Amino acid sequence: MVHLSVRSRYRLMLLAVATLLICALLPDAWLSSSATSLIQWTNDNPFSGRISRWMAQNWPSVQAQVPLEFTDWGRDLSVWENPDVIPREKVYKPPPKPVLPVADPFPLLSQNPPPGPSLLRAPKANRPPRRHYPEQTPLFVGFTRNWPQLLQCVVSYIAAGWPPEDIHVVENTGVMHANREGKLTLQNPFYLNHTQLAMLGVDVITTPTLLTFAQLQNFYLWTALDRAQPHYFWTHQDLVVFSHENLTTPGGASSSLYTNAVTTLRHLTTSSPPKKWAHHFFAYDHLTLVNRDAVLSIGGWDTHIPFYASDCDAYLRLLWAGFSQTESKIGIILDVGSVMADVGALLRIPGVRARLPGDRIVQKEGDGGYTETWERLVALGERMQRAKYVEGNALRNTWQVKQKGGQGEPFYRDADGFETGVKMMIDVGRSVFAEKWGHRGCDLVRTGARGEDAWRLERDWDEETEGLGFEGESW
Ligand SMILES: *[C@@H]1O[C@H](CO)[C@@H](O)[C@H](O)[C@H]1NC(C)=O
Ligand SMILES: *[C@@H]1O[C@H](CO)[C@@H](O)[C@H](O)[C@H]1NC(C)=O
Repeated sequence: MVHLSVRSRYRLMLLAVATLLICALLPDAWLSSSATSLIQWTNDNPFSGRISRWMAQNWPSVQAQVPLEFTDWGRDLSVWENPDVIPREKVYKPPPKPVLPVADPFPLLSQNPPPGPSLLRAPKANRPPRRHYPEQTPLFVGFTRNWPQLLQCVVSYIAAGWPPEDIHVVENTGVMHANREGKLTLQNPFYLNHTQLAMLGVDVITTPTLLTFAQLQNFYLWTALDRAQPHYFWTHQDLVVFSHENLTTPGGASSSLYTNAVTTLRHLTTSSPPKKWAHHFFAYDHLTLVNRDAVLSIGGWDTHIPFYASDCDAYLRLLWAGFSQTESKIGIILDVGSVMADVGALLRIPGVRARLPGDRIVQKEGDGGYTETWERLVALGERMQRAKYVEGNALRNTWQVKQKGGQGEPFYRDADGFETGVKMMIDVGRSVFAEKWGHRGCDLVRTGARGEDAWRLERDWDEETEGLGFEGESW
């Protein structure tokens, strides 16, 4: 490259500006005679003004000189082949096992005419106050796969008193507008019904492309910045939550999970002297309250650790930066892997019983008026949580691959292939964490590491004898 001094660059720029100005001021007649136009420019030319008219007159002449020859890429692909490599014949894996189709988790929402809004709200004991508490309490529910699971989670938050207008489902499916336009079907893992969420009063924020867990966390921060929300809650979608309806204060009233969440936020933001806090956890981070600016002050989440271990990385860096991160209990938060036969039971819709698909129920006389009890709902939720863990932690996330349809729909992805890709990214993320901190596992605090040690510590394991970064015991 020719090296130009700063002064000569300025001179060149001035020269260019002067040329443009001269062109703009020259009479039209001179311009049109300076180049013969090969194409007749019609009157509906979209350009106006002197310079653009000049461009419109001259560009077509340049384009018309390009020879009209096309390359047939289909045939010419062979030029990319390495002639020394003989490809192996393709061999298919065994075909995937067929799966049962998932059922509509909330049939009432699909009914025509649709149910009245009075049926789709929290039971009386949990209803949020008519006037919103002064605090902003947005709740982000990240969604990638499994609509029945998501709907169950959202409905349980509504039933536990969260104002529906504060619940924002963050649609992180990577299908762009396909769900909004109703182009996916229930058996597609990425299906989400915008209309039904709107019927519940819940809105949807769609991410522009499929984000990893760490990117999604930064997207929450960015959204909260954008909406001027200094604090927000986020939750996993594989949960069923309940208020402690059996616990009453000395005054005889019970307080909903939502009211307790607001009380917690109020406590953290009004304590004196002011608290330096970043997160407050409810049942580890199943539900989490975030102090936006604290997390931003450490640079947000590390997106090179896409899934597991990115939480350890973020929470530890906040700890080392002197932020407190506390935990408390505000209700019953259950980690579940299955979906009730009809999630309308959570709202105590008359005639809808708490049961799993396949559970036998004894229909009784006058069942239409039956209203489900809190005790039976919590008992079912607890049964679902036990079932999720019955085969150990290894099967904890298998709920995610139950829908396997959607072939031919926009942005179709093979459900098992998607899962495989995510698992590989999980391993890569753990390896990045291990290299970043010289240690394999979230028990990093015990090594005496500090925030400023990132990428500066030698590995404390031997790859030859102990395996790769994502292996080890402490994840
Ligand atoms: C979404 O739900 C509405 C209301 O129940 C229903 O009419 C519509 O067909 C559903 N959309 C899709 C794509 O399933
Ligand atoms: C309230 O219900 C929960 C969940 O079933 C139970 O663990 C707790 O012991 C109950 N508390 C009281 C005071 O009944």
